[in-house]
Amino acid sequence: MLKSTLIKAAEAGAKVMQQYFQGEFTISNKEGVNNLVTEADHASEKAIFEVIRSEYPDHYLLSEEAGAITMDSSFKWIIDPIDGTVNFAHGLPLCCVSIGVEQDGEMILGAVYNPFINEFYFAQKGFGATLNDKKIQVSKETDLSKACLVTGFPYTYLDQAYGPLEVFSKLIRSGVPVRRLGSAAIDLCWVAAGRFDGFYEHKLQAWDSAAGFLIVEEAGGRVSDFTGQRYSPYQPHIIATNGKIHDHLVKIVSDPKSTLQIV
Ligand code: IPD
Ligand code: CA
Ligand code: CA
Repeated sequence: MLKSTLIKAAEAGAKVMQQYFQGEFTISNKEGVNNLVTEADHASEKAIFEVIRSEYPDHYLLSEEAGAITMDSSFKWIIDPIDGTVNFAHGLPLCCVSIGVEQDGEMILGAVYNPFINEFYFAQKGFGATLNDKKIQVSKETDLSKACLVTGFPYTYLDQAYGPLEVFSKLIRSGVPVRRLGSAAIDLCWVAAGRFDGFYEHKLQAWDSAAGFLIVEEAGGRVSDFTGQRYSPYQPHIIATNGKIHDHLVKIVSDPKSTLQIV
């Protein structure tokens, strides 16, 4: 039941994205520079809420545009109605709906749907992860210096001593390819599918990562904060990998003295 509602909700949001994509819609700015929200984000959120509320009117909702709609329930739906809004606003087909379901503080279901390239990622705790109903697995790369990585940058740049640009620079100067797609949920799913060996980012919100976090774990990967502790979507730092390069990437991201050579 929960699974079919989740799938219907993701499909409803994605349908709205398709209706607005490359058409006319209003765009406004939130906190930071180019932190956009469009008419489509609100419409997608509304369509997702309608599906969930029709079947579970008493569940807790946490969604990017509406915020927390608190309920005394052990189930919480964590929703990003469009992840990759800047891409969406520019007509780039790298954006998606992302919905995670938590029960008693544990992520149990996740769905990420990019209708523009027809990719529906799904995971259920303990039952593995799928892309369009086919099982997916993380990559097998063991050497960080041969890995292909992906990252993202926050809207409000973090002016810290060893921040996103310094880490990016270290990796790029060492010859490691680091891509930047503009959707954290897609970044995570592409780690789960074995396309990337790892992903890291310095400032995410729960709705960016809730579904993708479970999808990576269920595809055999590891997701942590910058100290290597198991990931919680309620803190900003994320490192998600195939597991094999994880400890090395944690060191690179957290320790300014780290090098790509394993010593
Ligand atoms: C953003 C995307 C992006 C990440 C940002 C997020 P939005 O979400 O996931 O990849 O770098 O930190 O805020 O604003 O497109 O939903
Ligand atoms: Ca997002
Ligand atoms: Ca969003």
